[in-house]
Amino acid sequence: MQTPVIVILAAGLGTRMKSRKAKVLHEAGGLPLIEHVVRTALRLAPPERVFVVVGCQAQAVEAAVRNHRVGFILQAEQKGTGHALMAGRERLEPLEGPLVVLYGDCPLLSPETLRALIARQQASGAAAAVLTTVLEDPTGYGRVLRDEQGLVRAIVEQKAAGPEQLAVREINSGIYCFRSDLLWRHIGEIRPDNPAREYYLTDLVEIFRRAGYPVEPFLLPDPTEVLGVNTRADLAAVDVLCRRRKARELMLEGVTIRLPETVSIDAEVRIGPDTVIEPFAQILGRAVIGEECRIGTGAILRDVTLGDRVEVRPYSLLEQARLEDGARVGPFARLRPGSWLKAGAQVGNFVELKNARLGAGSKANHLAYLGDADIGDQVNIGAGTITCNYDGEHKHPTRIGNGVFVGSNATLVAPVELAEGCYVGAGSVITETVPAEALALGRARQVVKEGWVRKRRAAKEPPSGDKG
Ligand code: UD1
Ligand code: MG
Repeated sequence: MQTPVIVILAAGLGTRMKSRKAKVLHEAGGLPLIEHVVRTALRLAPPERVFVVVGCQAQAVEAAVRNHRVGFILQAEQKGTGHALMAGRERLEPLEGPLVVLYGDCPLLSPETLRALIARQQASGAAAAVLTTVLEDPTGYGRVLRDEQGLVRAIVEQKAAGPEQLAVREINSGIYCFRSDLLWRHIGEIRPDNPAREYYLTDLVEIFRRAGYPVEPFLLPDPTEVLGVNTRADLAAVDVLCRRRKARELMLEGVTIRLPETVSIDAEVRIGPDTVIEPFAQILGRAVIGEECRIGTGAILRDVTLGDRVEVRPYSLLEQARLEDGARVGPFARLRPGSWLKAGAQVGNFVELKNARLGAGSKANHLAYLGDADIGDQVNIGAGTITCNYDGEHKHPTRIGNGVFVGSNATLVAPVELAEGCYVGAGSVITETVPAEALALGRARQVVKEGWVRKRRAAKEPPSGDKG
């Protein structure tokens, strides 16, 4: 295959999305639509041969995919798909090889299909190969009209089509592979002679035919790959397909996913074999999960790094957290950014961590807040323990050494240090360093008043003899 030049049209706003944001920046499967398309393009051509036509919100669209080092073509005014290509003429025309047109709002197209489309154009020598498919309901799409030999005779847009043409269910996906010399020789012949006053790229079909060049159809039996996004409903449908594809990929790699249609896993996520994902889990962003882990029902994990045999019990929320081998959290735990559980550490229900390291084998099993804390190995954090890390102006650290035992409901007023092996009595308010192996008690001494209840009762009762 000759290496193609790939042009991705992405200058339109996408009015039907009813959004402030350009359509191609909306996400499906956890990635902007344009990102999917750029990745597909880069499977077939190096970045210096991939161009994105930008217009509406050009800067934001460029920023979304700039890291791929592809080229950008500015189409300041959007006067149609033909006009979009003309906008790049100076840079595109000198490049050798077939020219492929993709849409930034059509993210499910596979590199294999694209390769086959290019092969068809090359093998046939046609001026262009058009990717088509047959839809149950072709409303809105350009219809593909064929000649007696089955070649493409014309593409008519919905608005211009007569009743017979509207009945045609073979549609133009908008994806083409052109012989570039013919494309540039004839593109200037496109006229905006339609009600929208747009330069339709599809008009090239008839222009080529008149010049004596055939146009090949390439019919895709499964239309899902060319599903485009025009509305939020389309976006949801495409998102489902992206996630289904991702879940399937992971299952084939050895991940168990129960009720996969309920689970949401973003495109970038990596999961090791023999990990089990329970229903309604969401694994988002750049999460990396090791082997033999279990991710419970309703858990939400974003940008986390999990070792092997980690257990996240149901309904826990973990963001930018790191959990080493054998760690366990939840149910109902919250690990905020900077949480780090070392091997075998445990965090239980209604515990919140933020920017806190919990050492190997340490436990905070119930109802605690640990923020800006550095906690050693084999530490026990009692139920209800709070690090008071904020004084109203600044955040302060709490340091807890190896083997420390913190009793329930302790209040650790930072900055403060509990040195190795010390004990903190339950209910203590700790404001000063506790030395190694010491016991710290910071609470009011218990007072017992013997017979107090009896005396109070007696005081309330009226004097005897006065009774009704
Ligand atoms: C186009 C095709 C139609 C096809 C359909 C498939 C034409 C005339 N029609 O129609 O046959 O069935 O796609 O989805 O080509 N764009 C630009 N600059 C512009 C205009 C559009 O970059 O000036 C981009 C849009 O951002 C979008 C893509 O090109 O990504 C398609 O444009 P759109 O307006 O959606 O074309 P359709 O009317 O859907
Ligand atoms: Mg469209």
